[in-house]
Amino acid sequence: MHFFGKRVLVTGGAGFIGSNLVDRLVEMKASVTVLDDLFTGDLNHIQYRDQIQFVEGSVTDYKLVEELVGDSELVFHLAARNMIVSTKTPYLDFEVNARGTFNVLLACRRRGVKRLVYASSVSVYGNPRYLPINENDGYNILNPYAASKMTGENYCQAFYETYGVPVTIVRYSNVYGVKQSPANPYCGVVAKFFHQVMRGEAPHIHGDGEQTRDFTYVDDVVEATILAALSPRAEGETFNVSTGIEISVNELAREILRVCGRDLEPVYVDRRDIDNIRRRVMNIEKIRKVLRWIPTVTLREGLRRTYQWLQTAHQPSGQMEG
Ligand SMILES: NC(=O)c1ccc[n+]([C@@H]2O[C@H](COP(=O)([O-])OP(=O)(O)OC[C@H]3O[C@@H](n4cnc5c(N)ncnc54)[C@H](O)[C@@H]3O)[C@@H](O)[C@H]2O)c1
Repeated sequence: MHFFGKRVLVTGGAGFIGSNLVDRLVEMKASVTVLDDLFTGDLNHIQYRDQIQFVEGSVTDYKLVEELVGDSELVFHLAARNMIVSTKTPYLDFEVNARGTFNVLLACRRRGVKRLVYASSVSVYGNPRYLPINENDGYNILNPYAASKMTGENYCQAFYETYGVPVTIVRYSNVYGVKQSPANPYCGVVAKFFHQVMRGEAPHIHGDGEQTRDFTYVDDVVEATILAALSPRAEGETFNVSTGIEISVNELAREILRVCGRDLEPVYVDRRDIDNIRRRVMNIEKIRKVLRWIPTVTLREGLRRTYQWLQTAHQPSGQMEG
């Protein structure tokens, strides 16, 4: 796969997944522009930052979005406020995740982009009735973040059906890996556990730890996202992107302790208001069949790579928000 100088816009390209995507796109010879307001993003995470154009700004600024979309053949829309921020400030969540996505779509329509890939989330399924979750299973919106991500999806679908904007939706699940900084107070549970264990503290588990998730290594997510942009068969489609393997938070904590070579007993603390999903794992048959994508990084290997990166690139320090 090559991009041969194709002009690509990545919103949220300084973020965890975005920076991994940007580096991969540069390696594949794309000409990359990043739009990011650095809310959680960090330019230092883009290894090839000298080889891209970086624009500090917001997807809520329609004029700027249209100007940048105008120069691009492909758009990856990853900019978003995360679940914790969304829960605390639903107004900002709406502005960025819903209106920002609307802006990107409007600009893509006006400027005739060849493909828009929208990063959505497993959160839209809420507490699923059946496992593993299929793409066309019912939605169950349990928090403002899920509502805004779903709103983005709905507009993608509407713009595809009504105006023929070539969109592809990818629904990610619990992504972890290199460049997910524990310094970011909103990072996921994997980075949080590493942060605690590498400081010699026991991992703090909310609830009984038997809640399950589908932890997916970032390199796999990046490959799926790129295939979603390039494959003619992906146009107008929605894909689950995950491992399809259900792992409990207790198992995750054990694996992280093992990778770090620590012998510590987890500490169990109260559930938070966002911990209302008991079990979750997605079915990835569709993306396997249509895009011929399969995840290649096991949990153990992904955690090993993450630990290695944390040891060399990032020394955890300071207290984090829970
Ligand atoms: N990490 C996961 O497990 C996960 C799971 C499901 C979906 N997603 C989706 O993937 C995408 C990337 O998530 P991530 O984990 O890399 O999060 P992240 O917070 O690291 O990245 C989001 C990026 O968007 C930027 N941003 C926020 N508001 C912006 C605005 N108004 N304008 C421009 N940029 C803005 C941030 O500064 C950051 O660089 C998001 O759309 C998220 O909803 C992530």
